[in-house]
Amino acid sequence: MRKYTLVTICLVAGLIKVAPAFAQFPADTANETESNVIPYTLPDPLMMTNGKRVKTTDQWMKVQRPYLYHLFEENVYGRYPKQRLAARYQVREESRDALGGTAVRKQIRIFLKPADTSVHIDVLMYLPANAKGPVPVFVGLNFKGNATVQPDPHIILSNNLVFSSVEKRNDDAARGTTASRWPVKTILENGFGLVTACYSDIELDKKDGWETGMRTTLQHELKIKPQEWGAIGAWAWGLSRIMDYLETDKEVDAKKVAVMGLSRLGKTALWAGASDTRFSIVISNESGEGGAALARRWFGETVKLMNDHFPYWFVDAYKKYNKNVFDLPVDQHELLALIAPRPLYVASAADDLWSDPKGEFLSAWHAGEVYSLFGKKGLGTDEMPQVEQPIGNTIHYHIRKGKHDITLYDWEQYINFAKVQWGDANH
Ligand code: GCU
Repeated sequence: MRKYTLVTICLVAGLIKVAPAFAQFPADTANETESNVIPYTLPDPLMMTNGKRVKTTDQWMKVQRPYLYHLFEENVYGRYPKQRLAARYQVREESRDALGGTAVRKQIRIFLKPADTSVHIDVLMYLPANAKGPVPVFVGLNFKGNATVQPDPHIILSNNLVFSSVEKRNDDAARGTTASRWPVKTILENGFGLVTACYSDIELDKKDGWETGMRTTLQHELKIKPQEWGAIGAWAWGLSRIMDYLETDKEVDAKKVAVMGLSRLGKTALWAGASDTRFSIVISNESGEGGAALARRWFGETVKLMNDHFPYWFVDAYKKYNKNVFDLPVDQHELLALIAPRPLYVASAADDLWSDPKGEFLSAWHAGEVYSLFGKKGLGTDEMPQVEQPIGNTIHYHIRKGKHDITLYDWEQYINFAKVQWGDANH
């Protein structure tokens, strides 16, 4: 009898503790109705653990930024290895007369493990043919292989697998199939270069991808166990290795490298931008949950839904917050704030409710407080703009019409933004 009473008391006490979290945040459901959004309070990026608020850029850079960055490492993306590897770069192909004479095309292989030539990232670059000096570039990972980026028969078909619902290698039929996402002509005409590589070169995007990916093949060199980081961390780290190469390429202005990405690769671009300050502009294209969107805002995908479907993207610790996202010691506006004072562009699409456009907008708005410390203006308003009315200053935002994707409209905004931010509006 007594035993049962005790059990009952424990159960009731447990329920009391647990119930409000359930009631407050239906983590298993993706809400798509604005009026259903549950009130939430965001952590204050400027509040230090000693209870004082950050007042100077020095305090931010030396105390608060490292503290917040570490919270993201520990609770979300895992450790970002800092060891430098003895990488080797091989120019596999180069043409000064690509794309009808408008481009320089380079295909570079980055070997990351001296003893194993299968560990490599294949980079495809297009630079404007008429460049007078080093050019600013956009760098972003692609989903389906370099050959899909342009209908250019000279792109070397990768010998790596790509993974997009089925695992296969690129063949001729794949050429140019994602070209609408990479408007190379427009990028070049505006004086920029494009640098891309397939994220599958780093790790296949599936639960056991880590077993054959760089989290395993480089674990000893990097002194990090595969479980200490996730796939997003690995992809982001891969972007840093591409940056290492770009620093050696005299045709690239390594001080003007904008890192960008769509969706899970947008999450990746943000984490790369937060982790590696050599990326001087950071662009998030519909990065959604675990990217720009606020975790505490119950709209679109939830942390739990994302962790359930893609547990390998993040570290195990992130799962602790599946049902109690309010306990997460950070929220995504703080990830954006880690990019300060560098220019940041956050973009959404009107039909992409899964990514929570308003949550992405608000996150960019709240990051602005940290930009202010540096005398930089963020969005300048907390009122969400109309469709295709870009707004902002050092932080920019737009929501375009249409679905989850990256389009010419998105790119045109990034190009204009880069020109203004890099002080080259008449480029
Ligand atoms: C899924 C996932 C998102 C992600 C998206 C993508 O929809 O739930 O979090 O951003 O895939 O990468 O396309």
